[in-house]
Formats: sequence, C-alpha cells, structure tokens
Amino acid sequence: MPVRTVTEHGMTEKLGRIRARLAGGSRGAKTAEEALATLESYRARYRCIAELAVMGAEFDAAGPLEVVDRETPLLTYCRSEARVASGPRYHRHWRASMDRSDPAYKGQADYTPTLLRLYDPLVLGPILRYVWRVRREDTIGQYRQHIRPNHLDIGPGTGYALEHSGLPAGSPVTILDPNPNVLRYVTRRLRDLDLTAVEADVLKPLPVEGPFASAGLAAVLHCLPGPLDRKAAAIANIARVLAPDATLFGVTVLGRSHRHTRLGRAFLTAFNRRGAFDNLDDTEEGIRDILRRSFKEVTLETIGGVALFTATGPRPGS
Ligand SMILES: C[S@@+](CC[C@H](N)C(=O)[O-])C[C@H]1O[C@@H](n2cnc3c(N)ncnc32)[C@H](O)[C@@H]1O
Repeated sequence: MPVRTVTEHGMTEKLGRIRARLAGGSRGAKTAEEALATLESYRARYRCIAELAVMGAEFDAAGPLEVVDRETPLLTYCRSEARVASGPRYHRHWRASMDRSDPAYKGQADYTPTLLRLYDPLVLGPILRYVWRVRREDTIGQYRQHIRPNHLDIGPGTGYALEHSGLPAGSPVTILDPNPNVLRYVTRRLRDLDLTAVEADVLKPLPVEGPFASAGLAAVLHCLPGPLDRKAAAIANIARVLAPDATLFGVTVLGRSHRHTRLGRAFLTAFNRRGAFDNLDDTEEGIRDILRRSFKEVTLETIGGVALFTATGPRPGS
C-alpha cells in the first residue's frame, strides 16, 4: 500500500525550499522531488519508531511514497493516514502563518501560550460567569449532548470543552484553527483522543475530508470579522463537511443591541476596540438567519449575554 505523503510549500517557499512530510518526519529541499527523495532515504531510520509503536510489520508492508496533497502556507494538515508508519501520535512544529492583512487576523492573534495558560481559570471562570452571565456547565452541556466520534472542532481554544465532553478515549476528533499555539496546546492536552490538527481559517473553504458526525463552533463567531453576512461563509463551510444527520452547535457573545450589563458592555467595547471581537452588530435574529441559510433546523437560546445555538440538516450545496 502506498504511503500517503504531503509536500508542504510553506513560508519558506519564497526561499525556494519545499518540505515533504512522512508520518511525523519531514525533510526539506529545493524541489518537491528532492524532498521526497531525501525523505525516502530516511525510511530505514524511521523503522525504529515503528518498532517502538509495535507497528514494525505494518511499516515493512508500506509501499512507495505517494503525494496526496500539496499544502499551502495557510494550511498545516496532519493526515491520520500519514501516522500509519510512525505510531499513534504525531508531533508537528507549527508556525504562525495567518497574514496580518487578513481580516480574520486579529480575531485569532491573542491566543499566545500565556493567554492559553490563563484562559481556563480566567475566561472560562469569572469572565464567562460575571461578564457574559452564563455558567460553564451550560456550554459544556452542549458538548455533552451533541458531540459524536468523528467530531470537528473549530477554534478549540485550550480544548477544555473537548476534554470535558465525555467522548470516549480514542475517538477521532479534528481541531481546526489558524493559530498554531492553539493547535499545539490542544494536541498536547488531549492525548487520549485520536486527534487531527488542521491549521486553517473557517472563513475559507475547509481543507478537511469529512463527513463529520458533529461540529463545535464555541465562542468563535464573535471573533470573526463582521458583518454577519461575512460570517455566514464560516457556517456554509462547516455545513459542507458535515454528515446529513450531524449537528453543529456553539455559542457566541451578542452585540451592542443586546441587553448586556454595564460590565458586559465595557468588555464588549474593549474587546471590539482591540479587534479580538468583531460583533457589535451581531444580533440573535442575524445569527439565526446565517444558520438557516446553511441548515434546515436551527435552535437558538439566549442566556445572559450569549446565544447558544444548534443547527441540523446541512443544506446540500450551501
Ligand atoms: C474565544 S476562543 C474559543 C475557545 C473555545 N472554543 C471555547 O469555547 O472556550 C476563540 C477560538 O477561535 C479561534 N479562531 C479565531 N478566528 C478563527 C478563524 N478565522 N477560524 C478558525 N478559528 C478561529 C481562536 O484561535 C480561538 O481558538
């Protein structure tokens, strides 16, 4: 059986370098052919890794390298097929790649390793409870109710919700986020899941295979660049990779026309000024509308300053 391989034409392409990756190992060269040849020459060295993973026989049965994908700089896609030869875990070194001029840049730029360390105790603690007036159990409850193995999680943050979702160990989950810090953090945290990490922007066509059995979009819509018409592209992109019986679920902070507390209003203004949020004009009706454009059934419930939603029945060709 051929070994599915990805050639990555990354940030260094400007310098004329191309990288081929095999099962957590990668080799760089000036052309794709050279990179593949170098990678092939390393095959024998990778065998000991397969041995350690008790997969020596599978490794020996592997055929020639077959290029199944050329990656663009915006995308880092760790295919599960590529793990066949290296055992159940992969290690990647991600680098920041979203262009600063991209309208979605600011919504993901704040997730540094420091913020990710503070995120659970701070953002999922007092900010969620006292600023947005929703209990952590309400958002985790959505995960517990709707998540299914072969789940797609957009903007997983620290992976807290996935960790507490009740998914059995070994369940396949794909996380998608443009921020490499997020992907690295969640990959380390959720070692029990069969994780695939994809560095990508939900506003662009999703470089994932699907169909997924469920998708989470928790606290992401308010980070995406407005207006809601632009955010509709994210919903349509997700709908396209879901199974017909899948559920998309999530939560988002409502905009300035909602009845926020004074504290909520202060945070809303500050986060929008900073660019971390772009949701001043996001309304309950507007969110329901963009969900309905891509899904047949939509539910939306307001708790405190946020809207919790579910959407089922992805419309074909949405
Ligand atoms: C507020 S955090 C939400 C984290 C987690 N889902 C939660 O509920 O706590 C927003 C997440 O969305 C990601 N994000 C921001 N812009 C994005 C985009 N254009 N595409 C995909 N993810 C994005 C951020 O990198 C971050 O992981």
